[in-house]
Amino acid sequence: MNFDLQRNVSLKRFNTFGVEALARHFVRIDSMAQLAELRAHPLWSEGPRLIIGGGSNLLLTRDFEGLVVQIAITGRDLARVEDSDWVVQAGAGENWDSFVRWTLASGWPGLENLALIPGSVGAAPIQNIGAYGVELKDRFDALEGMDVETGQVVTLNKEQCRFGYRDSIFKGDLKSRIVITGIRFRLPKNWQAVLDYGDIRSELTQRHLTQPSAQDVADIVTAIRRAKLPDPAVIGNAGSFFKNPVVLAEQHSLLKTHHPGLVSYSQPDGGFKLAAAWLIDQCGWKGRSLDGRAAVHDRQALVLVNRGGASGADILALAHAVQDNVRQRFEVELEPEPVIV
Ligand code: EPU
Repeated sequence: MNFDLQRNVSLKRFNTFGVEALARHFVRIDSMAQLAELRAHPLWSEGPRLIIGGGSNLLLTRDFEGLVVQIAITGRDLARVEDSDWVVQAGAGENWDSFVRWTLASGWPGLENLALIPGSVGAAPIQNIGAYGVELKDRFDALEGMDVETGQVVTLNKEQCRFGYRDSIFKGDLKSRIVITGIRFRLPKNWQAVLDYGDIRSELTQRHLTQPSAQDVADIVTAIRRAKLPDPAVIGNAGSFFKNPVVLAEQHSLLKTHHPGLVSYSQPDGGFKLAAAWLIDQCGWKGRSLDGRAAVHDRQALVLVNRGGASGADILALAHAVQDNVRQRFEVELEPEPVIV
């Protein structure tokens, strides 16, 4: 056996909320070959399985009575150079932010708006991570993984991944079916900075930058994130806990009539994306807690934090209270972003 199966492992350091939960069985996988071997092991099909990366989009509400598999496949490379793009690849277990910084240092811009997002490369496509006007799908080429039903190695291109806002086929039809092992990105030689986001524009003005480099954008994004979002290494959290809900034009105009301050963004399909942080903030939740342990972050109402000692159940109870409140006040349903186990 080429891997180390462990029993009763604490998952505290494998989830960025920092909540305590035990894995009945735990294994770290470093290669596709190990994954194939694990798939043939009796424990693989004996009970439930949970595949994790950096644990930054995960809320554990109980011990896991099955097999937890941490994908730790590393490696990053320039795969090929095309006329218009650099095609860059990375193992699923690479840390996302280090990968982004490596691409920038290598002179391949394109991922700078996604700097400092916690988590691993392999988890990024599942929820199509996005920030400050760029989504993973905008720079994505293809991914490689194992279809755990057939054991075959598969490659999926952008279209096949069916990316949407914080969504992909890996949350839908292919849920739990594909273990992502590596990703290829397409970084444009004809790079142009994406600077549409209000926060970025004001930082540019403050820094007197008119033609920022990709590194400048990464620095700005890093500064904005540090100012608003809690560092999971210091205070447990999983970034935005809810997605920004999208509503139909009719509901939007009704909401706007009753709540003129509503923050929303029109969508190409005619709908409107609502700033969930605003809805939560309006309900008075910012900085509040039910039990002193699980709290709504005091600088970004969309982020739930573990002030210390919170269980996953405490965080879930807080999430439910926030959802109830927003539903009562705005008749809007907030959908959690992290995987809840
Ligand atoms: N706002 C409030 N109160 C708050 C925070 C924000 O009223 O406490 C309002 C403000 O009007 C603000 C608006 O909400 O302009 C939007 O806030 P922000 O710019 O912080 O972005 P967001 O919609 O809350 C999304 C992503 C973030 C991403 C930022 C920047 C989702 C679920 N979240 O947050 O992603 O970093 O935009 O692009 O789409 C994540 O997914 O974990 C994440 C952090």
